[in-house]
Amino acid sequence: MSKKEINLCDAEGNTTTLPLKTGSHGPTVIDISNLYQQSGYFTYDPGFTSTASCRSAITYIDGEEGILLYRGYPIEQLAAQSSYIEVCYLLLYGELPNGEQLAKFDHIIKHHSMVHEGLKNFYSGFHHDAHPMAIMVGTVGALSAFYHDSTDITQARHREISAHRLISKMPTMASYCYKYSNGQPFVYPQNHLSYAENFLQMMFSLPSEPYKANPTFVKALDLILILHADHEQNASTSTVRLASSSGANPFASIAAGIASLWGPAHGGANEAVIKMLEEMVNSGQNIEHYIKKAKDKQDPFRLMGFGHRVYKNHDPRAKIIRNMCHELVDELGAENQPLFEMAMKLEKIALEDEYFIQRRLYPNVDFYSGIILRAMGIPLNMFTVIFAMARTVGWIAHWLEMMDDPQQKIGRPRQLYTGHKRRDYRSVVDRD
Ligand code: CMC
Repeated sequence: MSKKEINLCDAEGNTTTLPLKTGSHGPTVIDISNLYQQSGYFTYDPGFTSTASCRSAITYIDGEEGILLYRGYPIEQLAAQSSYIEVCYLLLYGELPNGEQLAKFDHIIKHHSMVHEGLKNFYSGFHHDAHPMAIMVGTVGALSAFYHDSTDITQARHREISAHRLISKMPTMASYCYKYSNGQPFVYPQNHLSYAENFLQMMFSLPSEPYKANPTFVKALDLILILHADHEQNASTSTVRLASSSGANPFASIAAGIASLWGPAHGGANEAVIKMLEEMVNSGQNIEHYIKKAKDKQDPFRLMGFGHRVYKNHDPRAKIIRNMCHELVDELGAENQPLFEMAMKLEKIALEDEYFIQRRLYPNVDFYSGIILRAMGIPLNMFTVIFAMARTVGWIAHWLEMMDDPQQKIGRPRQLYTGHKRRDYRSVVDRD
C-alpha cells in the first residue's frame, strides 16, 4: 500500500483500500467516493462534522488555530487594508485586482444596482410586518423571472452577469424590505457612493431632506461586509451548492441560501444576541442566572454569539469586530453603553467558566456585529438581511467554482434507514 492510501477492515476481515488526498492546507481526506462500489458500505456523518463535501480554492479556515484566509489572504490584512468591493473581486476571480480591474469591477457593480420596476410590486404583496428575510427569500428568487437573459447557466458570460447582478442588487432589495415595512418610499441607488454608503442612503434617506451617512458607520458596515463575505462550506453555502447542483438557476439557488441563513444557529444569531442582551439588561436578573440556564441541559437556552462548529480556539473575525465595536460605542456614547457593557461582562464571565472553557465556546463574530448594527440604527430584523447581502458574493463564488468543476454532479446523500422493514398493506377494516 502506498502512503496515499488507507485500508479499512471490517469485522469479517474484508479490507477496502481507499485513496488519500491532500489539499494545500488542512487535514488529509479519505476519498470515499468509491467506497460503496468497493465495499457495499455507506458512511454516516450527521451534520457533516467529518466530511469534505467538495474541493474548493476559495476560503480556508483552521478552527484550531483561529485562521481565516480568503484566496490565501488573512482576514486581518483584508479587514485592515482592503474594501468590500475589492474582496468581492478577490473571491470571484481568485486574485486581487490591479487599479484598472478594480475600477472596472466597481463600475459594473454600481451600474447593475437598480432593479426592474416591476419587481417593486412584489413588495406590496407582503404583509406590512413580514420579516424582511421572508421578503428577501421571495424577491431574490423572483429575480429569475425578470432576468431571463442571464440564466443559461451553461454559458460562462451568463453566469458572470448573474453574479454581478446579484451582488449589485442585494443592497437595493434589502433596503426596499426596510422601506416597505416603514411605509416609506423606496430610494434609488446613487452610483457615485460606495457599496456600504449607498446601502445606508437607501435605508435611511428620505425624499424630503438631504442625507449624509456617518463616515464611521460606512467604515463599520464595510468591515462587517468583509468579515461576512465568505466562510467555506457553512450551512447556507452548502445549501446553495446543493440547490444549484441540479442545474437550478443562480437566483433560485441564492434564495435557497438566504432561507438557510435565516436560522438562529447560523445567520440569525446576531439578531438573537441583541434580543438576549436586551433581556439581560431589562430583566434585572444577574448574569449568573443566564450562565446557569445556558449550562442546564434541560433548558433550551444557549448563550447566543458563543460557540462555533469550526472555530474551537477563537473566531478571528470576532477579534477584529470587537475593536470596531469599541470604536463605535466610544464615538456614539451613552445610548449604546448598557448593551455593550452587558456584552463585555458576559464575555468575561463566560470565558472564565469551566463549562465554556471545556467545550471551547468563545464569542463568535455575531456576538459583536449585532451591537454595531444596533448602534447604527439598523432594526433588529434587518441584521440577517445584511449578513445575506455580505454573503451573496461568497455564495456566488462557490456556485461559479462548482459550475467550472469537471467533477461536479448532482448532490444526492444517502441515509441510514431506521424505519419499518417491508410489510404488506392491510385494508382499513382489517386494522386494529
Ligand atoms: N451556549 C451553551 N452551550 C453551548 C453553546 C452555547 N452557545 N454552544 C454549544 N454549547 C454546548 C452544547 O450544549 C454541547 O454541550 P454537551 O457537549 O454538554 O452536549 C457542546 O457545547 C457542543 O455543542 P454542539 O451543539 O454540539 O456544537 P455545534 O458545533 O454543533 O454547534 C453552534 C455550533 C454555533 C450551532 C452552537 O455553538 C450554537 O448554537 N451557538 C449559539 C448560536 C450562534 O452564536 N451561532 C452563530 C455561529 S457564527 C455565525 C456563522 O458562522 O453562521
